[in-house]
Amino acid sequence: MKVLLTGGAGYIGSHTAIEFIKAGYDIVVADNFSNSKPEAVRRTRELAGVDFPFYNIDVCDKEKLDALFSAEGIDAVVHFAGLKAVGESCQKPLEYYKNNIDSTLVLLEVMKAHGTKRIIFSSSATVYGAPDTVPIKETAPVGRCTNPYGRTKYFIEQILGDAAVADGDMSVVLLRYFNPVGAHESGRIGEDPAGIPNNLMPFISQTAVGKRKELSVFGNDYPTPDGTGVRDYIHVVDLARGHVAAMGYAAAHTGVEVFNLGTGVGYSVLDMVKAFIKSTDVNVPYKFAPRRSGDIAECYADATKAKEILGWQAEKTLEDMCRDTWKWQSANPNGYN
Ligand code: WQD
Repeated sequence: MKVLLTGGAGYIGSHTAIEFIKAGYDIVVADNFSNSKPEAVRRTRELAGVDFPFYNIDVCDKEKLDALFSAEGIDAVVHFAGLKAVGESCQKPLEYYKNNIDSTLVLLEVMKAHGTKRIIFSSSATVYGAPDTVPIKETAPVGRCTNPYGRTKYFIEQILGDAAVADGDMSVVLLRYFNPVGAHESGRIGEDPAGIPNNLMPFISQTAVGKRKELSVFGNDYPTPDGTGVRDYIHVVDLARGHVAAMGYAAAHTGVEVFNLGTGVGYSVLDMVKAFIKSTDVNVPYKFAPRRSGDIAECYADATKAKEILGWQAEKTLEDMCRDTWKWQSANPNGYN
């Protein structure tokens, strides 16, 4: 079975490419390098031991995407490609709606023209907005997003659902990620955010490596055990393996199914800082700062559905997440540059 990974040169895409190859799939990667680099493709091929086909294209480019499908014969798609910075989406909403939704519509049109019926979508827990209760089940209300990025994920979930209703042979799996962190155990690939990191773990690791002066902890007055925000951090390799499990499900089912990909355990910002220092023996200076607008106090998954239906659960520990992050960051202080 040949699987196209759109955005497969990115942080989650590259780790997922390796896991699909290990599971015996043939893969093709398409990426426009808007948030990734050619070196990531080279290293992914090196780690996978496979020189998989790579297309430097924008998924919005229907002619080029159609040519890829004609040349390769795609059986299924994992759709990662999309802009993903929450803060940036608030500054550039039209760019986010156009890129993330147009790319999905073009992809669906080309899939339909080529009879490709299976798609796994890289969604996000951000579609839940501020949850009424935690842990969050897949049946919790969605659409109460707090930013345009989250709304693109929510709208795309709806588009894919409608496409599957119109074509009963389609299989759509929506994977709602919680907070992906960590890196491949080799330290050769990892998270390489452009500019100043928005997310906690890359900011911690860049502080540890001396690229940032200190971490600002956004708020220590939340209604949480230590006052700092609680999230469900999941190792990116566990997340990648969740996609392989989801593809097995998609191959055997039609219709739409949604799964949380999280650990089911919430850790606070201070938990993460302490765990990182303990795991790496490297200091991470920090200070308390005001809350970041749009942040919520607690967000962590009820991960039982993926375990029961996909037979998948996260296995890597918080120490694995910190250790593997540090191995990547310390060996690549400037990412792939
Ligand atoms: C985690 C915690 C911050 C940075 C976002 C997106 C979500 C997904 C994951 C794409 C919060 C605190 C952070 C810092 C801090 N991305 N923090 N200092 O906001 O839970 O989720 O990334 O799908 O869609 O919304 O992740 O890592 O930004 O924040 O104190 O410098 O760390 O307040 O409590 P978040 P995050």
